[in-house]
Amino acid sequence: MLTQEEMKRAAAEVSLSYVRPGMVLGLGTGSTARHVLEGVARLVREGADLRGVPTSLATAEAAKLLGIPLTSLEEHPELDLAIDGADEVDPALNLIKGMGGALFREKIVAAAAKTFIVVVDGSKVVRRLGTQAPVPVEVHPFGWRTAIRPLETLGGSPELRKRDGEPVRTDNGNYLLDTRFNGIRSPAKLAAAISSIPVVVEHGLFLGMADLALVGTADGVKTMRPSRRP
Ligand code: A5P
Repeated sequence: MLTQEEMKRAAAEVSLSYVRPGMVLGLGTGSTARHVLEGVARLVREGADLRGVPTSLATAEAAKLLGIPLTSLEEHPELDLAIDGADEVDPALNLIKGMGGALFREKIVAAAAKTFIVVVDGSKVVRRLGTQAPVPVEVHPFGWRTAIRPLETLGGSPELRKRDGEPVRTDNGNYLLDTRFNGIRSPAKLAAAISSIPVVVEHGLFLGMADLALVGTADGVKTMRPSRRP
């Protein structure tokens, strides 16, 4: 019986088969993406000419320690391939991301990539988004409370993410409102409505972005392609 960690690692290993020499990669954030980082570091040690754009300060630090050459969207506004984890994946490969707090940079990096591959274990696959994970909403600290009522009007239950009693700050200095919806009927409408709240910087609904999901399960790594887009 594989552990959850082994399933994550297995999915990450399969994602490496999409990496080609010379590629500029988007490097994800989180425990599954960490396995990808270790794999990329191995390819670099074996002589592959790879560079990565990190999606968080934590990933930048880890990549440096692992010896992965880093670059930026300044130098490479178009990336060959981004590989990242997710908190939920639906059959259309719409995602909820951001429980690791890095959704803002993750979304920019994924959008900049020609191909975006998601790596998860089977517990992240859902029939409908919002059934397991809240949608993290990154809000500017100035006036963050003004987002509460609009998010509630949209059917959500926002909660300010805290650590040790203090609001968590993202790499961009912002706050996060983890917003539960208990099942999202129309992800596209919800995404547009959240984006229209003035204090919202970005949110964790990644719609129509993933090309492929690699899902680590007890029966091996399954490949999911988008069934249909919203
Ligand atoms: C980071 O902000 C997130 O989007 C992660 O990709 C997501 O939370 C998945 O993380 P794990 O692989 O640790 O579950």
